[in-house]
Amino acid sequence: MSKTTHYSELGLVNTKEMFQKAMAGGYAIPAYNFNNMEQLQAIVRACTESRSPVILQVSKGARDYANQTLLQYMAMGAVAMMREMGGNIPIALHLDHGDSYELCKSCVDTGFSSVMIDASHHSFDENIALTKKVVEYAHAHDVTVEAELGVLAGIEDEVSSEVSHYTKPEEVEEFVKRTGVDSLAISIGTSHGAYKFKVKPGENPPPLRFDILDEVEKRIPGFPIVLHGASSVLPEYVAMINQYGGRIENAAGVPEEQLRRAAKSAVCKINIDSDGRLAFTALIRKVLAEKLDEFDPRKYLGPAREELVKIIRHKNEAVLGSAGRA
Ligand code: G3H
Ligand code: 13P
Ligand code: ZN
Repeated sequence: MSKTTHYSELGLVNTKEMFQKAMAGGYAIPAYNFNNMEQLQAIVRACTESRSPVILQVSKGARDYANQTLLQYMAMGAVAMMREMGGNIPIALHLDHGDSYELCKSCVDTGFSSVMIDASHHSFDENIALTKKVVEYAHAHDVTVEAELGVLAGIEDEVSSEVSHYTKPEEVEEFVKRTGVDSLAISIGTSHGAYKFKVKPGENPPPLRFDILDEVEKRIPGFPIVLHGASSVLPEYVAMINQYGGRIENAAGVPEEQLRRAAKSAVCKINIDSDGRLAFTALIRKVLAEKLDEFDPRKYLGPAREELVKIIRHKNEAVLGSAGRA
């Protein structure tokens, strides 16, 4: 496909106004990752029903999995479906953890309204140089850019780290000024995946480093902050997975009250992937374990989709505070 597509042709918006409103209103915009039709349907339905602005988030792996051309039509279809439901919520399409200028450029050229360049594992100056290059191209197309300072532990394809390094508040002002970036992901103790903290059953995970967040806010007041690795790893889904033949041990996530607190601060975007994966998998396992003769994908993907709608509505309403804001 040689023709470039601007996101406005797909009915999408960038994140600028979403973040301004979230900052003023003391809530956070949900960014839900998706890879397939059922996940997308669930996100669009739940966010339309709860009147929440939403960021549809696609990793490099998800983009390869879904196929870029199909993804464009899926994003356009998401907007059409939302309108068909009588909704009028802003929808952004965002590249999650972009690892190169070329990937970010390709996403800008194929209908993404927002991109993340994650050069947080490079040196400070290299991070600035690469982020600035992406910002220059993206802004020329009215696409917003997220960058990251500090490193989260956990595995994402292409960008991964065994250990986390907290964001250094003394670096944020210079980084934001020199790059011209629109939002900044910081590391305050979250990590990717379902094993965020090493805790024994019944123990509470250590609190997030709100002191670092406060310091960051002081240095760049009013600037949109992003929280990655923000799944709560809800115990009921881990239990369901284990009950129906899975084995997930020592999983732990970020308690909801800490996310609520973050959402009221300068944190304007909260990333959630693992919670959706766990709920989806739990229901598929349950159906397949209970109905051994079932082989129609709609019969197990359908209930998984319904459960996803439920948890997304819950997050928008009771955790992020984004429900009713669109
Ligand atoms: O933070 C990363 C997201 O959970 C996406 O994960 O690279 O496995 O698609 P993925
Ligand atoms: P979780 O693994 O906690 O859902 O984090 C997702 C994320 O940060 C996507 O970028
Ligand atoms: Zn992430």
